[in-house]
Amino acid sequence: MIREALKTKQKLINDRLAVLLKADRVEHKTLYDAMNYSLLAGGKRIRPFLFLTVLDVLGVDSSRYMDAACAFECVHTYSLIHDDLPAMDNDDYRRGRLTNHKVYGAGMATQAGDGLLTFAFQLLAEEKEVPSDIRIKLIDILARAAGPMGMVGGQAHDMEAEGKHLTLDELKTLDACKTGCLLTAPVSMACAIAGTAMKERLLLENFAIHLGLLFQITDDLLDETGNLEDMGKMPGQDEKDHKSTFTTILGLEKAKAFAEEEAALAKEALAKLPFDSTILYELIELMVHRKK
Ligand code: IPE
Ligand code: IPE
Ligand code: MG
Ligand code: MG
Ligand code: MG
Repeated sequence: MIREALKTKQKLINDRLAVLLKADRVEHKTLYDAMNYSLLAGGKRIRPFLFLTVLDVLGVDSSRYMDAACAFECVHTYSLIHDDLPAMDNDDYRRGRLTNHKVYGAGMATQAGDGLLTFAFQLLAEEKEVPSDIRIKLIDILARAAGPMGMVGGQAHDMEAEGKHLTLDELKTLDACKTGCLLTAPVSMACAIAGTAMKERLLLENFAIHLGLLFQITDDLLDETGNLEDMGKMPGQDEKDHKSTFTTILGLEKAKAFAEEEAALAKEALAKLPFDSTILYELIELMVHRKK
């Protein structure tokens, strides 16, 4: 069920993303090409999928909120473009193609990232399906998750931690910001739209926090065990960049066990919900066993 659901929603998301960014004037063509180069290169679309799926689970017609869904993918793609820059992880492949800066240069790649980040908030501000008071809440949720309190904070911590040995707790804190925040925001935003009661929203957010940690553990595992063909990015990058990861701290086997523990905690949160969330259990399993 989950594989089909993911495929169906990936198509909806990709179709919408494909028409969102059109150059407004000829002088901006390279910028738009650079934004679309990374945005339309594939990618699992997990964040918009999570947003749309939680809306479904909450009994809301998710097809009405495609632009809000696309906002996550714009922010996420920006984070990947900047993450790959020579001044950051300095990577050559992403989503099965050369990284943005390898094609457009570091300056234009920086602009492409900035453009996607800003455009995401334009999408939310213009999301007519959502009443304006809720729209402000959505903008607040995404800003906190993406900004210095969230993903950017985690990325800065990640840069400063290069070459150092982090403790497990320090790495968990780093990754909760770097990766966890942009996986919790889709859930929080779906709850804000659905008007979900606080008790249930906290359970769903708890699920997402564990899913986020699980997601980064499997990302770290795949950096050691995955391949370019499946992942669309080069393995072995963390060692090259002298990063502390779940595998450097725990070793492969313990890191896998830790991923299972996080999966169990994510499921525990779901089990307390008073409605059917089978699809989210399946998503957890897919994330534990993913190869890309
Ligand atoms: C990679 O994210 C960066 C992390 C937060 C670990 P994804 O694994 O979701 O990358 P895409 O979107 O599928 O390319
Ligand atoms: C990056 O984490 C997370 C982001 C916020 C982009 P990584 O640096 O481990 O992601 P990959 O492995 O390059 O996709
Ligand atoms: Mg990185
Ligand atoms: Mg990286
Ligand atoms: Mg990684």
